[in-house]
Amino acid sequence: MRRFFAPLGLILLMLSVNFPAFSQTAVSEATPEGQSATAVANTPPEIAIIPEPVAVTKAEGHYILPANVLIQSPALPELKQALAFLQERLSAATGSFVSAVSSPSATANIKLIINEKGHHLLGDEGYQLSVTPNFITIKANKPAGLFYGIQSLLQLFPAAIESSEKVENVEWTVPCVEVMDYPRLAWRGLMFDVARHFFTKDEVKQYIDAMVRYKYNILHLHLTDDEGWRIEIKGLPKLTEVGAWSVKKVGEFGNFIPPAADEPRNYGGFYTQEDIKELVQYAQERFVNIMPEIDVPGHSLATIAAYPELSCTPGAENYRVRSGERIMDWSRGAPPTALVDNTLCPANEKVYGFLDTVITQVAALFPFEYIHMGGDEAPFNFWEKNEAVKALMQREGLKNMHQVQGYFEKRVQKIVASKGKKFMGWDEILNGDMPSSAAVMSWRGMKYGIQAAQKKHEVVMSPTDYAYLDYMQADAITEPRVYASLRLSKSYEFDPVPAGVDPKYIKGGQANLWTEQVYNIRQAEYMTWPRGMAIAESVWSPREKKNWPNFFGRVEQHFKRLDIAETKYAPSVYDPIFKVSRSADRQLQIELSTEVEGLDIYYSFDNSFPDRFYPKYTEKLTPPKDATMLKVITYRGKIPVGRMMNMPIEELNKRAGRR
Ligand code: ACM
Repeated sequence: MRRFFAPLGLILLMLSVNFPAFSQTAVSEATPEGQSATAVANTPPEIAIIPEPVAVTKAEGHYILPANVLIQSPALPELKQALAFLQERLSAATGSFVSAVSSPSATANIKLIINEKGHHLLGDEGYQLSVTPNFITIKANKPAGLFYGIQSLLQLFPAAIESSEKVENVEWTVPCVEVMDYPRLAWRGLMFDVARHFFTKDEVKQYIDAMVRYKYNILHLHLTDDEGWRIEIKGLPKLTEVGAWSVKKVGEFGNFIPPAADEPRNYGGFYTQEDIKELVQYAQERFVNIMPEIDVPGHSLATIAAYPELSCTPGAENYRVRSGERIMDWSRGAPPTALVDNTLCPANEKVYGFLDTVITQVAALFPFEYIHMGGDEAPFNFWEKNEAVKALMQREGLKNMHQVQGYFEKRVQKIVASKGKKFMGWDEILNGDMPSSAAVMSWRGMKYGIQAAQKKHEVVMSPTDYAYLDYMQADAITEPRVYASLRLSKSYEFDPVPAGVDPKYIKGGQANLWTEQVYNIRQAEYMTWPRGMAIAESVWSPREKKNWPNFFGRVEQHFKRLDIAETKYAPSVYDPIFKVSRSADRQLQIELSTEVEGLDIYYSFDNSFPDRFYPKYTEKLTPPKDATMLKVITYRGKIPVGRMMNMPIEELNKRAGRR
């Protein structure tokens, strides 16, 4: 779909160059001290880097890219890919001939320089970018810094630089500027759930390509769940022969009709160990670490379908990999009541032997120092009635099921540590008394992360309230239905370092893309962007520089870039927010607002498609008596920016409650 917008994006780009009144956006004018001031301008900001750098000092003039570009770059193997990337980006769209030398060259147009002595502020990932009319310099202490400097530099070029094909009639200029930049936090993660729906190796690479634009450095791969086991483990062939395959279903995941016994189980897939090595290397070349997650003891139906002996529950031989049918009852809250036992048995020694085999191979495949072992949402109702679990409780003096899970987690942590790796788990692992060497990923809000930091655990914050990318980005009437919403402006409020904790325990923050309702890579991109930009800015940029109008002005520039790069994103931020109430005489009242300043909402009740010649929303609406549909669309000036939304009056009546 987005493919059709690419040329439009280019046309708009040209228009915006020729007609500066194209849009009303905020520009950031950073002072040498790095403080930004926001001003409203009629032109798009010329400097629109995301995440916002520590300090940007704009200077007079422009650098003009010549037809022959020479890049001077240190001959370091870690930089090979970064240099090739820069060459490819600079040549594909511009048609310039771009070559590179490793020795110092007075004629080089772009110089990538590793600081011999190191720069005290830059650390391992910071950089200084200097654009003058004569040449461009990026300096860093380490190759990662140069890579991030390259990302910022590309964002200074016209958006058409994102094109994979030559674009004519563009002036390839870069505004003169001095940028000094380094990350606020070391852990800047995105989680990609490749278990609920399988994403191919190439799709994961595509996801990595998009995340590194925004200086993310950790890809957390959720490799196992009830719906699939996605990594080859030698000696345990059924994990991928059986555990990787379900019945293909589409629609609203979670409520599918349970598949019949004879329906083909050919939907899914897995990564061979060679695939994993290739992905790890691909990520490393882009300064991304991949953290694997093996989610136990819950979320393990695919494992049990492959090896039923790992379950406590008689009859587990009949269990099948989940295809999206209902398997949990959440009506009484967490922990859920399982309708089938999707847990590994904590009282079965075979489980620990199995995990040792898995963790040994996972540890060898992924060089990253952490292995995530899940621990979330384990239901206890099958354990509660199991004799072996009761005997384990007696033997170990465990008083309740949380302590049983705690016993399990501690044993798993020992296995992980025995392979020379650090154990990480979702915040439920705190229910057992885990040693402080266990790192905690806080997802049920920030609360458990705060508790964990107070107990001296390392913490990564990925709270549902700000960082759950599977949640809807606007009204359920337009978005694929999920049980919760998270709008861009709320994501942008994410601050991973809460007051009242020693910040040294907060390693960073992460956004999580669960994929129950995400069936393909285009939708994965749609869910990730632009909220992924908001989270990137929360983990990279100085807290003091947070400024929503300024950020959104830059996001709009990045929409153009993503259009041209053919990376999908959600335009949901332009969709109005519907609020309903009842007047004293029980009439439905509809209040509309937008997340973004400066938009107009036009509407109709007569089933026709509103445009800017229709009534403009100015105050609460009461639908005419016989109206069945409210259609709305948002504009900026003369340009439609929102999608046509069709809101049934009946739906609004339902939301408003009793008539
Ligand atoms: C989670 O969202 N269950 C970690």
